[in-house]
Amino acid sequence: MIIGSNLENQEIEKRIAITPEIVKKYISLGFEINLIHNYGAHIGFQDSNYEKLGAKIIFDEKDLINNSDIIIQMRLPNDNYLSLIKENQTIIGSLDIHVNKDKLKNLLNKKINIFSLDLLPRITRAQSMDILSSQANLAGYKAVVESFANFEKAIPMMMTAAGTVPAAKVLVVGAGVAGLQAIATAKRMGAIVFATDVRMASKEQVESLGGKFLTVEGSENLETEGGYAKEASDDFKKKQEELLKDTLRKIDIVICTALIPGKKAPLIIKENMINNMQPGSLIYDLAASQGGNTAFTEADKVIDKNGVKIMGEKNILNKLPVSASNLYAKNLFNFISNLYDKENKKININMEDEIINNTLIK
Ligand code: NAI
Repeated sequence: MIIGSNLENQEIEKRIAITPEIVKKYISLGFEINLIHNYGAHIGFQDSNYEKLGAKIIFDEKDLINNSDIIIQMRLPNDNYLSLIKENQTIIGSLDIHVNKDKLKNLLNKKINIFSLDLLPRITRAQSMDILSSQANLAGYKAVVESFANFEKAIPMMMTAAGTVPAAKVLVVGAGVAGLQAIATAKRMGAIVFATDVRMASKEQVESLGGKFLTVEGSENLETEGGYAKEASDDFKKKQEELLKDTLRKIDIVICTALIPGKKAPLIIKENMINNMQPGSLIYDLAASQGGNTAFTEADKVIDKNGVKIMGEKNILNKLPVSASNLYAKNLFNFISNLYDKENKKININMEDEIINNTLIK
């Protein structure tokens, strides 16, 4: 079977689905790998690096797609590319099904098998394929690095002959995968870290990383069976607002990560709360691409509100595309290994397998 991968739209996506180190693994599993010319050159992976490991470089997009049994990408390809995909071919990626509903429907009508890895169940067996975790983990780390780089004071406490520099106080809103990595990174760099979440299960995890958990008084537990956040009630939102308004007065840096699957990001840091913050403080909003957790977030811009900076990016992972691609490529490889029937040399869409059933778009 042939696995093919084309260029992403590099204006919005620098990550790639096949890194050189994963080529050998596919080949030893029995696949051939076809890649478009200059596939990874923008992040330092030259065609020759791939060819040495056994991949074939193709110069024509049509040939690439025509000859592939499985097409793997980061994002859903453009319309031109999609129109070339034929019946019985399989496409796998992180396809953003809420945004791309209509396009995916068209592909289904053409009897194309589509798998979107953002639909993976959060179960132990799927952990090695979990792109949400691998990417969110890097995003949480990078959000801290970016915000610290833009903060105009030192982070750790420093006692010097000239006086003491106090440690920066960081608040992480949303303690999921990205939030927990943000807490760990900020702690390692010497900050005092606070965190809050609607899921009480996250309290223990925050504390195990040395963070202080801020519990919203009288909050109900807003966790679904799948471990995700539910949308908060108005009563909860009011109590959370009171707690944060007070806390934000003494916080230097806020890292926002709060998301609800399939919905616009909740608005948590409102205008009146930002007015309460000290000039010089900074908010990094990782939810920027989904509408943002603050009243003023604008993706890819730094907004200044009375000396408080609010920043966020559409795709922070473009700032560490090599690490992100390496992990994404491994996640995909593990997913395809589970889908592939080695003996019969074909993919086996076994609907009894929760991983396959959940990720197959129907
Ligand atoms: P996410 O990216 O959907 O959301 C980020 C965080 O924001 C979550 O912790 C969520 O509870 C929080 N949040 C949402 N609305 C909020 C609000 N109004 N105020 C404050 N916080 C709010 O979540 P992520 O990072 O994907 O994690 C989801 C769950 O999946 C977690 O319980 C995580 O531990 C679990 N998980 C399980 C895995 C497994 O294999 N068993 C692997 C990875 C994650």
